[in-house]
Amino acid sequence: MKEEINKKGVSILSLDVQKLIDMLNAALSEEWLAYYQYWIGAQLVEGPMRAEVEAELLQHATEELGHADLVAKRIIELNGTPVLNPLEWSKLARCKYEAPEDPYVETILAQNIRGERCAIQRYQEIAAYTDKADYVTHKLAVQILGDEVEHEKDLDDFVVDISLLKKALK
Ligand SMILES: [Fe+2]
Ligand SMILES: [Fe+2]
Repeated sequence: MKEEINKKGVSILSLDVQKLIDMLNAALSEEWLAYYQYWIGAQLVEGPMRAEVEAELLQHATEELGHADLVAKRIIELNGTPVLNPLEWSKLARCKYEAPEDPYVETILAQNIRGERCAIQRYQEIAAYTDKADYVTHKLAVQILGDEVEHEKDLDDFVVDISLLKKALK
C-alpha cells in the first residue's frame, strides 16, 4: 500500500482532486497513445517530403513522451496513481489511437492532426478546470496546450506544402 501523506500542496486546492486525477490519467493515456502513433507513423510514412515529415513525427513523438512525464509527475504530487497498465490506455483515452494502416503521408498527417485537435481540447479543459483552483496544474496544462497548438500548426503546414507541391507538378 502507498503511504498517504497529508500534503499542504494538495489541501490548498479548491477543486475535486479525484476528478482532476482522472482527467490527468486520461491525458496521460492519450500521451502514450500519441507517442506510439507518431513513432510508428514515422517508421512507415511514405510519399512526398517523406524525410522531412519523418523527422517532424519523431520530434513530436519525443515531445508527447515529455508530456507523459510531466503529467505522471503531477498525478503523483496530487497523491494519485498514474495509470499502471498499458491495457488501460485505450479505455481511459478519449483521443483514440488510429493504426496507420495506410502509410501514405497525407493519411498519416490527417490521423495525427485529429489526435492533436483532441489533445488541444483535453488541455483546454484541464486548464479551465484548474483555473485559479490549482495554479501548478493550470500552468502545466497551459504549457502543454501551447505545445499541442504548435504541433497542430506543424502538421497543417505539411498538408499545405504537400498540396502546393502536387499542384506545381500537375
Ligand atoms: Fe502531448
Ligand atoms: Fe502533440
